[in-house]
Amino acid sequence: MPNILHGKNVVLGVTGSIAAYKAADLTSRLVQAGARVNVILTASAAKLVTPMTFAGLTHRQVVTDLFEPTSEMSMDHVALAQKADIVIVAPCTANTVAKIAGGRADDALTATLLATKAAVLVAPAGDANMFNNPAVQANLQTLRDRGVTVVGPASGRLASGLVGQGRLVDPALIVGFARQLLGRSGDYAGRRVIVTAGGTQEAIDPVRVITNRSSGKMGYALAEAARDRGADVTLVTAPTALDDPAGIETIQVGSADEMRDAVLPLCENADLLVMPAAISDFRPANTADQKLKKSAQNGLTLELVQNEDWLPDAAGPRLVKVAFAAETEDLEANALKKLGVKGAKLIVANDVSGGAVFGSDKNAVTIFSRDSEPERLPEMDKFDVAERILDRSLPYLSS
Ligand SMILES: Cc1cc2nc3c(=O)[nH]c(=O)nc-3n(C[C@H](O)[C@H](O)[C@H](O)COP(=O)(O)O)c2cc1C
Repeated sequence: MPNILHGKNVVLGVTGSIAAYKAADLTSRLVQAGARVNVILTASAAKLVTPMTFAGLTHRQVVTDLFEPTSEMSMDHVALAQKADIVIVAPCTANTVAKIAGGRADDALTATLLATKAAVLVAPAGDANMFNNPAVQANLQTLRDRGVTVVGPASGRLASGLVGQGRLVDPALIVGFARQLLGRSGDYAGRRVIVTAGGTQEAIDPVRVITNRSSGKMGYALAEAARDRGADVTLVTAPTALDDPAGIETIQVGSADEMRDAVLPLCENADLLVMPAAISDFRPANTADQKLKKSAQNGLTLELVQNEDWLPDAAGPRLVKVAFAAETEDLEANALKKLGVKGAKLIVANDVSGGAVFGSDKNAVTIFSRDSEPERLPEMDKFDVAERILDRSLPYLSS
């Protein structure tokens, strides 16, 4: 299943910020996600980046002048506004923020923003002093009060040489927030979903851990897929190399116990708990306070104790649970056994013998339930596996 941006009409407004060059990366990401992207440059933006860059990326004419319509706009100055599914302004200058707040329409971008009924996402960028100015802050608040999604600015080193707030947020985050906005009335709207991810880490001493080869990709894909269908998602994740996804409350944990302590209180108020995290079955019986030294005996024997399985304790008045089983042998028998023990409606089993699934963007799973035949899915992107798990979970959720 394609992601939610596929086939959507995105209007991307680019304004006269030094961060305008990053809009090329954003454009490319949107195009690669399958969106039809129409770019509007303000006159100031066109002095910093060329229309040709965006035309090359989108294969569409770029609008730079309200009075020189392109084929996309024909002679109708609100044509793009009407067909847009979302209007993104990134980067958005303090000047354009003020113009949107004031209802101005003196160029193609502001006219489009005034005329559109689509969701609007604004990602401001600029000098820290400029953005901290009360006038700019008040204008941004006006935008938020009117339902505009304002993303950033982020903190860091600025082109002015200052270090502070004013950086355009990462284009990947803008794409994530756009997906969330487009999906807000999806079939998971109003649902609270908890997803766990990553491989937990059990401390041996202050610097060493026992962990596993889980990359977290399956959990992150699930969290993003649920967000894109309108869910309010909390991701509880053990360490991974992945960035926090946009629009998802992300709680970082280390050990299996920490994950339990983060997840169980959330269950009271959740509709769905999906558990792809690879939670360590064992932990060292004792964690050393100081780093263990090389010993004269040339070796070290670790005593391990079993972690409790806390999934059976996860409960809430509406909670539906989906467990995962990673097996290297007897996949079906082991998965079915776990289905009973964990109190889950579904169990997603994958054969991890050979280790190929770890870190991969693809996965081949079988979904077991008590009330239907096992569903064996062919190898597919983890995002598509996530979509299928959400499809299968939805009928169990309380109405
Ligand atoms: C090199 C350069 C970089 C600029 N960067 C920013 C910026 O990051 N944020 C901002 O609010 N204004 C920035 N400005 C000022 C705007 O370009 C100026 O306010 C302009 O009127 C904005 O027009 P627009 O909002 O129609 O694009 C910059 C100006 C120059 C010359």
